[in-house]
Amino acid sequence: MSIKSEIKRRRTFAIISHPDAGKTTLTEKLLLFGNAILTAGAVKSNKIKATTSDFMEIEKQRGISVSTSVMAFDYNNIRVNILDTPGHKDFAEDTYRTLSAVDSVILVVDSAKGVEEQTRKLMQVCRMRNTPVMIFVNKMDREGLYLYDLMEELEKELDIAVSPYTWSIGAGNRFKGLYNLYTDEVQVYDPSKKDSSEKPVTIKDINDSTIADHIGADSLKTLKDEVEFIKDMFEPFSLSLYREGYLAPVFFGSALNNFGVLDLLETFLEIAPHPGTIEAIERKIQPEEEALTGFIFKIHANLDPNHRDRIAFLRICSGKFERNKFYFHTRQDKKMRFSSPTSFMANAKSIVDEAYPGDVIGLYDSGNFKIGDTLTEGETLHFKGIPSFSPEILREVINMDPFKTKQLDKGVRQLTDEGVAQLFIQQPGNRKVIGTVGELQYEVIKFRLEHEYGAKCRFSPLPFIKATWVTSDNKKELDEFLVRKSGAIAYDKENNLVFFAENEWMIKIAKETFPSFRFYTTSEFKDSLKV
Ligand code: G4P
Repeated sequence: MSIKSEIKRRRTFAIISHPDAGKTTLTEKLLLFGNAILTAGAVKSNKIKATTSDFMEIEKQRGISVSTSVMAFDYNNIRVNILDTPGHKDFAEDTYRTLSAVDSVILVVDSAKGVEEQTRKLMQVCRMRNTPVMIFVNKMDREGLYLYDLMEELEKELDIAVSPYTWSIGAGNRFKGLYNLYTDEVQVYDPSKKDSSEKPVTIKDINDSTIADHIGADSLKTLKDEVEFIKDMFEPFSLSLYREGYLAPVFFGSALNNFGVLDLLETFLEIAPHPGTIEAIERKIQPEEEALTGFIFKIHANLDPNHRDRIAFLRICSGKFERNKFYFHTRQDKKMRFSSPTSFMANAKSIVDEAYPGDVIGLYDSGNFKIGDTLTEGETLHFKGIPSFSPEILREVINMDPFKTKQLDKGVRQLTDEGVAQLFIQQPGNRKVIGTVGELQYEVIKFRLEHEYGAKCRFSPLPFIKATWVTSDNKKELDEFLVRKSGAIAYDKENNLVFFAENEWMIKIAKETFPSFRFYTTSEFKDSLKV
């Protein structure tokens, strides 16, 4: 098959949600449809239930997510690549980066809880990149919010136009089924057929008189009224608006009862974009270009301390990846080849000979890669959209074993290359400050430094609540700032200037005192979020 047809048959996406909305359950049902797993319960939830100190749980999570980081399967000759994202909020940064490697997302919302904190944050990242979004309102078998209110909440809180693609016939005890506004089909919900792969009773045409026999005359009347109303109230679905990231089609269902999931999957395969243009700083890359390009968006440490190898996850952006062919590692300015690139078909790892745009492959790495690295066939490229986010907790690394300084340095560098946390250096004395978005990260780092590098450290709290990147082209102001704020100045690994703020007020004051300054909450200045 040509590269073009391989691209056309690929859909690479992530399922995102606030924890507990049903992401794991939905993923599992999709994998069942793709015959990628044989039984329900095969996908482990990567939630960490313990909040702190449960190292084994953390390690388990890391172990599990190697195999579930990417789940690929074929459905109706379409290659579906699902990229997993951690559920725990302390790993949010990992999720943000994974979103740079997908072409679209499915957002799962709990029908009773509506838009929750993580939903909002994740959507912000999608909106930054105009990632096409489909929304799945889950748990319709439970009493939930009034649907119009929920739709309004989605539209307002997520800052996106919503368009019902299916509509729920009742909810909770009165949940009778779903109506598809575009196929005009009514699917009848039968709670006794939970987990069955049998298709539900489906009646084409909302005016078919037999529908009332299945869902009752009252439910049918309500449905008809509601359909009239929602057609007036919401934008009709538009493929181009969806693909541009301005309009999200909304689906309803119950992942647990496998109801509404097939509709979601089939519509997704029809409307979701195949791999498209990806922007690098230097130029735009088209997937059908002959030369391979790709970037590393995730690095996973090997759990076994005897095998220090890591797995670097490469998203292919253009061309065809071939095993044992030499590729150019642009940051290190060297050629590398890979004898055992891994694919994640049907949830099992296997060596792959070739891969295409949209695919994600695992490359064994002994420390060559860091997040954001690019592989090409000779061109120097830097992909956008793999930023570091403004950490909200900052702690100084205190070495507890002076004989292991080298190991500690190496460990801190490597772990921060993996994106576990961010490293900042403060002068004088080359003091290392680790910034994270969650508490749990410090425990992971401490544990891993000890177990993987033999280094001992503790973390000393700093009085800062935020690190923001700073730019200015006014040298005089910059010099003054460096002197006046010396205690709150640091540099990231790329030597970018970073300001540690003790509170929001400090940023406000700094902005007023130094009008030429720009403060950013992501390391990617060009299209990042200004504060
Ligand atoms: P997450 O990955 O988004 O965190 O959510 P997950 O799928 O683990 O689902 C969270 C809880 O919600 C699970 O229950 C799951 O069984 C339940 N759930 C998912 N989809 C539906 C649905 O359509 N209807 C109903 N009623 N419940 C649903 P749990 O008790 O927390 O976990 P478990 O012990 O059942 O695994």
